Amino acid sequence: MTGAETTQTFRTAIVPAAGLGTRFLPTTKAVPKELLPVVDTPGIELVASEAAQAGAKRLVIVTSPGKESVVNYFRNAPELEETLESKGKTDLLAKVRRGPGLLDVEVAIQEQALGLGHAVAQAEGNLTDEDGAVAVLLPDDLVLPTGVLERMAAVRAREGGSVLCAFDIPKEQISPYGVFDVTDTGDPDVKRVHGMVEKPAPEDAPSTYAAAGRYLLDRSIFDALRRITPGSGGELQLTDAVALLIAEGHPVHVVVHRGGRHDLGNPGGFLRAAVDFALEDPEYGPSLRTWLTERMESQRP
Ligand code: UTP
Repeated sequence: MTGAETTQTFRTAIVPAAGLGTRFLPTTKAVPKELLPVVDTPGIELVASEAAQAGAKRLVIVTSPGKESVVNYFRNAPELEETLESKGKTDLLAKVRRGPGLLDVEVAIQEQALGLGHAVAQAEGNLTDEDGAVAVLLPDDLVLPTGVLERMAAVRAREGGSVLCAFDIPKEQISPYGVFDVTDTGDPDVKRVHGMVEKPAPEDAPSTYAAAGRYLLDRSIFDALRRITPGSGGELQLTDAVALLIAEGHPVHVVVHRGGRHDLGNPGGFLRAAVDFALEDPEYGPSLRTWLTERMESQRP
């Protein structure tokens, strides 16, 4: 399925980027974690590109006072572009123009980091009557290969309601995740969701399907976000609003994504992503591979 076929399902993607990024301190005192480069491209551009590929026309970046650089990244840089053009640096010019050319970027401001649900709620004012559903993509979660949003859109077109994304994780590794309580459907990669448990012990986990940072949410999520109260950590949790919708009979499904994932939100996960992408890079991959191999060998006892 191409992005074009899914444009009726959603046209707006919301990317919450107003968090404090405490796991990346001290860097995040000055640089938003969403702009840290995976090789040479910020994670938020990778995610914006995924949204565009899935048919989104508009990107609403939720950011906070002091993190304006996240939005500036998607603006044109005429002077820089002129300089690169005059020097004939066409490859660099293409890279500089790539982010701004992906889709129309708008801003919503979250004054205080009051949780993911609160961040998403700030984007409601940017929606129009055409937005019956919105995609939400967390910029610190790379879901690979891309394409899961298109599958999620197809499930919403068929089943209605909201559609989330899940990974099948070995039971003994399930504890750090939000875990779905599900029943099967006719499609082995699509499950009906009945609830969710945050960070369960393996023996208490209702399934092995863990939540990932991709959501295709019916517009009624904004009404649900107004009706929930702060949950863990005093934050408004997006999953609490989804749980409220489920309790009221709103259909929620997950698409099980059988692929890879990088968590860019902490230094360990970010480094893995950078190495993974760099190894695939024609310019940096070969020498990195040689150096890494030598480095690992020199480490042997
Ligand atoms: P995270 O929990 O990974 O980001 O939220 P964080 O809170 O910035 O990170 P730590 O835990 O302090 O290290 C996932 C996404 O949701 C956004 C974050 O910017 C991130 O992209 N977010 C989170 C908000 O926009 N607002 C919030 O209040 C919380």
